[in-house]
Amino acid sequence: MSIQYFSDTHIFKLDTERTSYGIGVTEDGYVGHLYYGPRVRRLSAREGLRLHEAPPPAELGREKLAFLASFPFEYPTGGAGDFRESCLDVISEQGKPGCELFYRDYRIMDGKPGLPGLPAAFGTEREVQTLELDLEDPVLGLLVTLRYSVFAAEDVIVRSVLVRNGGTQRLRLGRVLSASMDMDNRGFSALGMFGAWGRECHKESISLHHGRQVISSERGVSSPQAHPFIGLTTPGTDEEKGEIYAMNFIYSGGFLAEAELSMFDQLRVVMGIQPRGFLWRLAPGETFAAPEAVLTYSAEGTGRMTRNLHRFYREHLIRSPWKNRTRPILINHWEGTFFDYDSSRLIRIAAAARECGAEMFVMDDGWFGARDSDNAGLGDWFVNEEKLAGGICVLAESIRALGMKFGIWVEPEMVNPDSELFRAHPDWAIQLDGREPSRSRNQLVLDITRREVRDAVMEPILNVLHEAEADYVKWDMNRYLSDLGSAALDEESQGELLHRYVLGMYEMQERLLAEFPELLFENCSSGGARFDPGMLYYSPQIWSSDDTDAIERLRIQEGLSMLYPMTCMGAHVSEVPNDQVGRVTPLETRANVAMAGSFGYELDITRTPEEEKELMRAQVGRYHRYHPLYERGEYYRLRSWSEAEPFDCWMVALPDGSEALITYVQVLGRPNVGGRKIYPRGLDPEAEYRIALVSGEGGEQREPVRSGDELMRAGLLMPPLRDFESRVLHLVRSWEDRI
Ligand code: DGJ
Repeated sequence: MSIQYFSDTHIFKLDTERTSYGIGVTEDGYVGHLYYGPRVRRLSAREGLRLHEAPPPAELGREKLAFLASFPFEYPTGGAGDFRESCLDVISEQGKPGCELFYRDYRIMDGKPGLPGLPAAFGTEREVQTLELDLEDPVLGLLVTLRYSVFAAEDVIVRSVLVRNGGTQRLRLGRVLSASMDMDNRGFSALGMFGAWGRECHKESISLHHGRQVISSERGVSSPQAHPFIGLTTPGTDEEKGEIYAMNFIYSGGFLAEAELSMFDQLRVVMGIQPRGFLWRLAPGETFAAPEAVLTYSAEGTGRMTRNLHRFYREHLIRSPWKNRTRPILINHWEGTFFDYDSSRLIRIAAAARECGAEMFVMDDGWFGARDSDNAGLGDWFVNEEKLAGGICVLAESIRALGMKFGIWVEPEMVNPDSELFRAHPDWAIQLDGREPSRSRNQLVLDITRREVRDAVMEPILNVLHEAEADYVKWDMNRYLSDLGSAALDEESQGELLHRYVLGMYEMQERLLAEFPELLFENCSSGGARFDPGMLYYSPQIWSSDDTDAIERLRIQEGLSMLYPMTCMGAHVSEVPNDQVGRVTPLETRANVAMAGSFGYELDITRTPEEEKELMRAQVGRYHRYHPLYERGEYYRLRSWSEAEPFDCWMVALPDGSEALITYVQVLGRPNVGGRKIYPRGLDPEAEYRIALVSGEGGEQREPVRSGDELMRAGLLMPPLRDFESRVLHLVRSWEDRI
């Protein structure tokens, strides 16, 4: 039993393998947060609710504000006198704010319900149990269900909220966040992921001060500027020790993650849909569903958090039939040609790549309408036959004749003003009356809250994909949302635009997958602007960044792999000097870094010298031999370049410790220095391991057989390498030599 209710103390106790979570209810129905942390046998003390400090319930009338200032709410509401951050703001028919929730009932069920129209974690009745707490605001007739799904094996609790108008007033919701937690401060810092286009998901630790610290996106996408994740770490937390409370959001639009330190040194952490610009009408009988937030706690540093989340996303969020399959090595021509191509150039690239072992060809932007640059053509989803002579089928057949799969790029949510679609339907773009909408990459955002707009783009796209019998689709999205006006929503519903947009996009992706259930689907947004758990529900991989420089990628992939399984990260080998930073890195290092993700090449391989093609053939062989370790293994970060080390090192080990792969990348080499010790993890301490150098130079391993405990405790010496060089070591347990 993962969930228990103790009626004598009115406490709910949720247990995973290593953690417990407690909720307590007061006599008068306030629902409070009691505990989250290492697993405990019992939760019987209600003192965590602090009722002895704030006036007891009977005296609420006199000192209610003092009670609201310190009660550790499980789901705080706004307007009644708790001045800390609120999760639910409601405006009555008379325009008055205020909401207070009181406990009414509970249900415990095996399994987990989904969320209509939203991505949602899943699991069987044996894998997950769900608690629903019904709360009510009797004045408004508002019914709020707090949902907690407990994934015991992964140490994950998934929270979401359903808000139903059970009264007679027309209500408006000013915000509906998904999760909140009130805790005593223990010197916490907040861990977040920040960045920009080309520099996505760089981790950063923020020391907390009193007041509110916000990690958020107001751009209509989860964004590269901030990631929908917040971790609270105790002092000294690193990869292996210390505590972290983590929240990640299964949503792809704007979000708010916030840590607020109160005057009493209590910490409130909230996560949910970005409230700025949000205003949702809730008519009598209607329900609003808030997306899911993923919670995990680790007492073994950020490494355990990472492994909890990786297992959880693999088993309980990613649906794709591809999630456990080795994916075909792709060749994408984008960085090699940009818009300058026709089918014969594409076929030449595909043929050269096939010869090196690539298995799938991806045709990127530029194949439709008048799309010769990024100034025109978006929205016109018919094949440009000047470029693709004879149409898409001819190209697809030529690619298949090479023995390759065929993939296609699309950007369904956007329109260029210079397009037939926009000329026919100017009101289909999101824009404000009387104002010239802000362009980005010379494009506008389509109002996909409207069914007719969704249909108008999906139908021609699906036709092309059917004609081509596409094996793979890359769904791009190349700007943020601004000028938030919809011609289809009335004046009272404009505040629903951003969330309805996300729901519309999810519906379009659902439709694509329903028509192509076997599709290998990749999301992308100007690189990694929409790399979030919501998108992983639709696509098992997401393009991580338009920055493909191997060294820049170290930070980006470090941030992403703290949260998401390695195979989710789209990672390609591109040409040097690198298009973004001009850096020249060795082909082997580019491949060793890209191989941590869903691997491919992105270049005009017809220009590649023969000796490099030889290396590529070897890389392809290595991918097939070793990439399954990334697919099934546990990830351990051994050293972080982003934390001021001159090298970066990570490894994956199969859960039983039988095999492991270590990647070591020198960032800058230094003269006259000694080698560096690394300390592998996840090995079987009692076994012996054979060690083989599978990529890189720098001397043979002197002791090719070492014991697991020695490797993990005494370490493994890596020789000094030159700028940007790398090594990959394969460790395999040798049963014959078992001690
Ligand atoms: C942005 C993507 O991140 C790139 O990979 C490429 O597909 C371009 N868009 C095409 O316009």
